[in-house]
Amino acid sequence: MSTKPIAVAIDGPVGAGKSSIARAAAAKLGFIYCDTGALYRSVGLYCVRNGVDLKNPEAIAAQLTNIKLEIRLVDGTQHVFLNGEDVSEEIRLPEISMAASSVSAVPAVRAALLDIQRDTAAKSSAIMDGRDIGTVVLPNADVKIFLTAAAEIRAKRRFDELAAKGKDVKFDDVLRELNERDYADMHRETAPLKQAEDAVLADTSELDFEQSVDLICRIITEKTGMR
Ligand code: DC
Repeated sequence: MSTKPIAVAIDGPVGAGKSSIARAAAAKLGFIYCDTGALYRSVGLYCVRNGVDLKNPEAIAAQLTNIKLEIRLVDGTQHVFLNGEDVSEEIRLPEISMAASSVSAVPAVRAALLDIQRDTAAKSSAIMDGRDIGTVVLPNADVKIFLTAAAEIRAKRRFDELAAKGKDVKFDDVLRELNERDYADMHRETAPLKQAEDAVLADTSELDFEQSVDLICRIITEKTGMR
């Protein structure tokens, strides 16, 4: 039996449920789960904390020498450390989302994060989610999935999640922010969000969470011949 790690790339727009679905599928299949958005969020957090102008790509790129990121598994869950500090919670703040999208458009940032992503996938079988995993980070991934759902549905799920956490948000604002971030992620010059030619399209608009996890597990087991 081959011991080569299996690499699964899941890409898709904001709020498609990539992280929760990929995490659950990874747990079911015994893979590690790697959320690459957390890396861009950590760079965004560093820039916000240090007052870096997010409209200035040179200023963002100049910060890279001050930023050291590490991915560590804590009780089987991915944690991201920014210069030694566990920022896994703080990077989830809504105000960091747009900062992450801004820094992710800077080619030097994308180049700087390539090794840490590839090293993670090389260590063990992994499901990695992001925007350019199947197209750029792991072009030879064993399985590529483009996970999406209708924008209104993605916004409704995100809105419900935030409301459940007691956040006072308006649906229209959630939908607008989601569309803005998707537009920016799809139209940047370097590694834009797009479906890889050899990716399977998984649309979860009509599926609940469990059905979505089952669909992803089914695609992975069928494509890899796992049982
Ligand atoms: O998946 P997320 O919302 O945590 O990602 C935050 C931002 O990071 C997103 O707007 C686009 C960017 N990103 C990226 O450009 N490439 C990735 N592989 C992952 C995220």
